Amino acid sequence: MITVDYLVIGSGIAGLTFAVKIAEKFEDKKVCVVTKASEDESNTKYAQGGVAVVQNAQEDSFQKHVLDTLIAGDRLCDTQVVEMVIKEGPKRLDDLMRWGTSFDLDHAGKLDLGREGGHSEYRIVHHKDITGHEIETTLLRQVHQLSNVTVLNYHFAIDLITEHQLQIPDPENISCYGAYLLNQKTGNIETIKAGATVLATGGIGKTYGHTTNPMVATGDGIAMAYRAKARICDMEFIQFHPTALYDAQEGRAFLISEAVRGFGAYLRNTDGDRFMLHYDERAELASRDIVSRGIDSQLKKTGDQYVYLDCTHLDISKFKDQFPTIYEKCLSKHIHMEKDWIPVVPASHYLCGGILVDKDGKTSIRNLFACGECSRTGLHGANRLASNSLLEALVYAHNIYEYLSLNSAQQIPIAIPDWNDKGTGVTEEHIIITHNTRELQALMRDYVGIVRSNHRLEKAKERLDLMYREVEEFYKVSKVNSALCELRNMINVAHLIIGQSLERKENRGGFFNSDNVVLKTKVNEIL
Ligand code: FAD
Ligand code: SIN
Repeated sequence: MITVDYLVIGSGIAGLTFAVKIAEKFEDKKVCVVTKASEDESNTKYAQGGVAVVQNAQEDSFQKHVLDTLIAGDRLCDTQVVEMVIKEGPKRLDDLMRWGTSFDLDHAGKLDLGREGGHSEYRIVHHKDITGHEIETTLLRQVHQLSNVTVLNYHFAIDLITEHQLQIPDPENISCYGAYLLNQKTGNIETIKAGATVLATGGIGKTYGHTTNPMVATGDGIAMAYRAKARICDMEFIQFHPTALYDAQEGRAFLISEAVRGFGAYLRNTDGDRFMLHYDERAELASRDIVSRGIDSQLKKTGDQYVYLDCTHLDISKFKDQFPTIYEKCLSKHIHMEKDWIPVVPASHYLCGGILVDKDGKTSIRNLFACGECSRTGLHGANRLASNSLLEALVYAHNIYEYLSLNSAQQIPIAIPDWNDKGTGVTEEHIIITHNTRELQALMRDYVGIVRSNHRLEKAKERLDLMYREVEEFYKVSKVNSALCELRNMINVAHLIIGQSLERKENRGGFFNSDNVVLKTKVNEIL
């Protein structure tokens, strides 16, 4: 058993930012970052557009960014949280730059600002179209310079350790004492005891199959917290990104950043109509929920597989300079954007809900914190405003650091049992995992997608219950492996999404059930 002061599960922007800060502050304390794949594999690495931070005081203001966030969130944001996060933005961006992250500058040497859907001003700080890669690389470089941080790659967190594992019945409060990890190189289960545990495990994209997320995004942190009885909310608010590059293959979809629409690209249907003009006066720059639903309704009307993104009228040499990766990717698919339109389709992109936390990142379980995409802070409400996610992760990683700086995590003298795998054996039935994973993804895509209905949600619930029983039985007799744990976690996550979707009786932001009342929120109701 390893004992540390701070256990961080996940090595994206949220986990690494916290690890760097706490390790710099307490040189005598041990910090351990565990991550289930190679340390840089994360949603963070693929972020394109950038970080939304108010910079240009002449044109922009905190109030404008706050209002844009509230409008996108469709009256379900926590206004105090929105104000806190947005006002903290410039300081947290300074942290990243102090650690060496480079952002693009304009001709005057100031930060170059992009624009994305739902933003009334240019305020997206970026590094070409690979902002996430630049941030991830900087944070990893920083973390490796700190001698009190250990990074364990290919260590899969299976479950949190709480009173349940200690066999304490009906505890008054639930506390977290660390986690069980599967060392994927040796196959051994390791126990790690920690004063404070921070979940920073990212999103859930793989649950939908067709996603902009890498395959590590299986909602593990949310499922572990749920099994440990933490409060989980807003799971019905799945954000679908309108413009993933169309590819007949399932799996990770390449994103065409919203910043491309901010740069002036148009959406067109196969007849060439700029259809977004019929749905919202902001057209292509309406918030993501509106654009994704616009595309979905076009696809349903026409029976087509995709719509187009038209960049042919843009300055292509500037485009190449700002979006080199996107340009090259399209070229590799024989799409010459000077003359060809790009086929695009919505894909599952981001989870607005997750593990409920307060402004210090505290969950409802003692000594368990969460930040980044796995958490639900109240910033996003019913729909996240573009590029507010990296910002949120930075701010909440900092808030947890501040809280733990003032309230140091105490090691609790308690004996933790080793992982119990009595009665399990190595499985030769891997097909049960692959089959159920495919079935789950088809179920979520077809029945729990952009537009839902009570009938489809009820059917999805029935089928998921069967899948849940089959996989739980299989789990009880199998030695754990990461694919099985991920499937089990995705089933937990799907259960939460379907259950919370059925509970929501009005349509808001990214949630749309065709059996519900359609509410049109006016801007003056948000103010
Ligand atoms: P992640 O970066 O996803 O990191 C999660 C980490 O947890 C990973 O290291 C993973 O391996 C690890 N992990 C998961 N489960 C386990 C487990 N069981 N055991 C051990 N380790 C585990 N947001 C913006 O604000 N601006 C953008 O421009 C932007 N562009 C995006 C583009 C794409 C293609 C995608 C997919 C997302 C984009 N987002 C953007 C969203 C944003 O990137 C993510 O929300 C954010 O990076 C999440 O950071 P995180 O640290 O919470 O999680
Ligand atoms: C994008 O670049 O379109 C993604 C931005 C985000 O998810 O915030």
